[in-house]
This record gives sequence, structure tokens and C-alpha cells, in this order.
Amino acid sequence: MWLAPPSYLFLVVTVLVVSYVKSQDSFYYLKQCHINDPNVNQCLKQSTNYLIANMRRGIPELDLNDPEPVIIDEIQLALGTGPDGYRATFRDIEAFGVSNCTVTAVRSDIDTSQFQFTLYIPRITARAKYESSGVLILVRASGGGNYWGEYEGVKVKAYLKATKVLGEDGLTHLQLQQIKMDFNVKDIRMGVDGIHNGNSVLQAALNLFINSNAQELLKEMKPHLKKKLLVLMSDFVTHIFQSVPYSQFLVED
Ligand SMILES: *[C@@H]1O[C@H](CO)[C@@H](O)[C@H](O)[C@H]1NC(C)=O
Repeated sequence: MWLAPPSYLFLVVTVLVVSYVKSQDSFYYLKQCHINDPNVNQCLKQSTNYLIANMRRGIPELDLNDPEPVIIDEIQLALGTGPDGYRATFRDIEAFGVSNCTVTAVRSDIDTSQFQFTLYIPRITARAKYESSGVLILVRASGGGNYWGEYEGVKVKAYLKATKVLGEDGLTHLQLQQIKMDFNVKDIRMGVDGIHNGNSVLQAALNLFINSNAQELLKEMKPHLKKKLLVLMSDFVTHIFQSVPYSQFLVED
């Protein structure tokens, strides 16, 4: 089709304007912060919460569709040593509620790209399959079944250090160098059901033990759980850093 020069020009201008607006819009799920803003930490906190709120809705541009549940393949627990020491393996763990997290504080050192986030999650519920062997509270507790847990008042501290690199798009990106995390839980309720190779007396005894020692059990599981969570977190952060240029997070005036 042949277009008269004025309408051709109009078409070109329209295409340019539309693609400009689109490129401005393609990081709509983030708020940009200014490096020299004296309240840059406050801004980073808001930007991260804005990103989390968008993630709850799904961000197709980042292949983040449904953030729930968080899935962990396996966690192990060992109590006591020797042949009768209690060992449990939790598999196919599904945790619901993590996307309800809020960033409550950010500390940063922009020059060296170090960031510390404090997060709060009101409630996480989890379920898993478990198998155990050994002796627990003088009861032979070998067998398996379903595990469930409810964790309320979860506080997470995450520290990350990054370095600036040139991305494939020719723009500056952050590259994750180090990530650390720790967490604590205010209230824990958990238990087991559907025990096979067991009976209702054993199940009741296990549930009593588990609930009266919940914080202690979490402490024993923590090193392994932290390792698993760090892998999930570093994959997630790496994906965000690769997809979003540095200047979309932090811009110099
Ligand atoms: C997130 O929080 C809301 C409001 O408290 C609650 O209704 C919802 O069930 C929570 N989501 C998950 C997955 O726990």
C-alpha cells in the first residue's frame, strides 16, 4: 500500500511514540530510586514492596506467574546420634503465604552494592510427606505420613552483595556475589497425620512431642532449611538482576 507523505510521517511518529512509551513502561513493576536521595533506603523499601505486590498479581515479563506455593524438594532432620538416632526426611514441601511478605526495613551501601532487607510474613502454612526412622521419646518412630505446619510472625533478614557488570543488552546490571539469610518464627504449630506403619497412640505421642518441642525442632532443621531457601532466593535475585538493568533500580541524578 502506498501512503501519501504526511500520513506516512504520522505513522512513523506514532510507532516511535508507542515504542518509547512501551520501553518506559516495561519495568512498570518497579519504582526507580535516586542514588543521591538522602532517604534512598526508604525508597528501596517502597520499591521492593511494590515489586512484591506486583509479583502477587504475576509479572509475565519476568515469568513470575503464580508465586504460591513455595516448593522445597526435601529437608532432613536428625536428632541424636547412633543407630537409634531419630532421622526424618520431609519431601515435596509446599509452603503457602510467603508472597504475603512485607519489607519493613532496608539498609544499603550503594557504592559497594550491599543491601540488607528485613521482611515480615504474618503466616506461613506448610505441608509435606515425611518418613522417619529411629527412636523418639523412647518410642520407635519409624514410618511415614503427612506433616503439616503453621508458622506465625516470621521475621527474615536477608543480606546481599552484588557487583556491577555489563549485561547482554549492553546495559549495566547487578550480579549477585553473596547472599545470607536468617529467620525466626514467633509461633509454631505443627504435627503429623496419616501415619502408615503406625498407630493412633504413636501418632498422638509424636504430635505431643513435636508441638512441645517445635522451636527446638525448627532449630535442628534450620541449617538444612536455610541452605534450601538460599538456593531459591539466589536463583530469584539472579533472575531479577539479569532481567532488570541497574538504572531501573537506582538512577544517578
Ligand atoms: C495473604 O494474606 C491475606 C490477608 O491476610 C489472606 O487472606 C491470604 O490467605 C494470605 N495468602 C496466603 C497464600 O496465605
